[in-house]
Amino acid sequence: MTEVTAGTRVVPTISELRGLLAERRAAGASVALVPTMGALHAGHLALVARARQLADVVVVSIFVNPLQFGPGEDLDRYPRTLDADVAALEGLGVEFVFAPAVAEMYPSGEVDTTLRAGRVGSLYEGASRPGHFDGMLTVVSKLLNIVSPDAAVFGQKDAQQVFLVRRMVRDLDVPTTIDVVPTVREADGLALSSRNRYLDPAQRQAALTLSEALRAADAAATDGLAEVLAEGAAALGDHDDVTLDYLVVVDPETFLPVADDARGAAVVLVAARVGATRLIDNAAITLG
Ligand code: PAF
Repeated sequence: MTEVTAGTRVVPTISELRGLLAERRAAGASVALVPTMGALHAGHLALVARARQLADVVVVSIFVNPLQFGPGEDLDRYPRTLDADVAALEGLGVEFVFAPAVAEMYPSGEVDTTLRAGRVGSLYEGASRPGHFDGMLTVVSKLLNIVSPDAAVFGQKDAQQVFLVRRMVRDLDVPTTIDVVPTVREADGLALSSRNRYLDPAQRQAALTLSEALRAADAAATDGLAEVLAEGAAALGDHDDVTLDYLVVVDPETFLPVADDARGAAVVLVAARVGATRLIDNAAITLG
């Protein structure tokens, strides 16, 4: 590994970032990218720590991507906290924060060429947020083309996103290794999310039902799919503040729902609206 340069530099343009990375690569450095939308929390910092293990130069991108928000979603109120984010990254060995304006990423205002996330992209999160994964894949593809990283690090909390990014990289022969870091949780089980800051104390308490449902599903795994779904749904219970969107068990290889008699590795996905805030979580289980 080459020596880490002290300090974190915020880079707003693609050409500047490419120039800086070309210099570092010419000196033999490898590069890892951590794509984020900012509002950084300990989950993001775990991605950064992993990126530091994987490469000499760590680039964190901070870009709230309008393309992955649908009409009526929280694009306008999504937290934008660049100064605090950069402060949180100081001292963690992040050389560059790529923080482009929307006009830098989408200069013509409209995007005619986009990626399509296919059938899996229209299920679960994609069913509730039509177009979300097309927009996500499009910006991730742009970021991979801009940074050309040796590795890119994503969080397991967005399991469907991880599946789709891995498939895109395979389908399009992108020469970047996708690395995935386990979900970081609060002591009581709540998965860290930038959207947790929308929750008031009562909603924060109600939000625990998602991780409780996953624990109940895991505990029932040896009894098969029907029990997993029943126990998971029961744990979500009848909560005024919680509206279940989906609780589904998928095959990790295809991300399609498992058969009723499935055995072996599976992933439970849960999504619910807590107050006005949409939260997701997931857990790996073994159906037996
Ligand atoms: O997971 C996210 O924060 C976003 O979907 C990502 C990968 C940064 C793309 O905008």
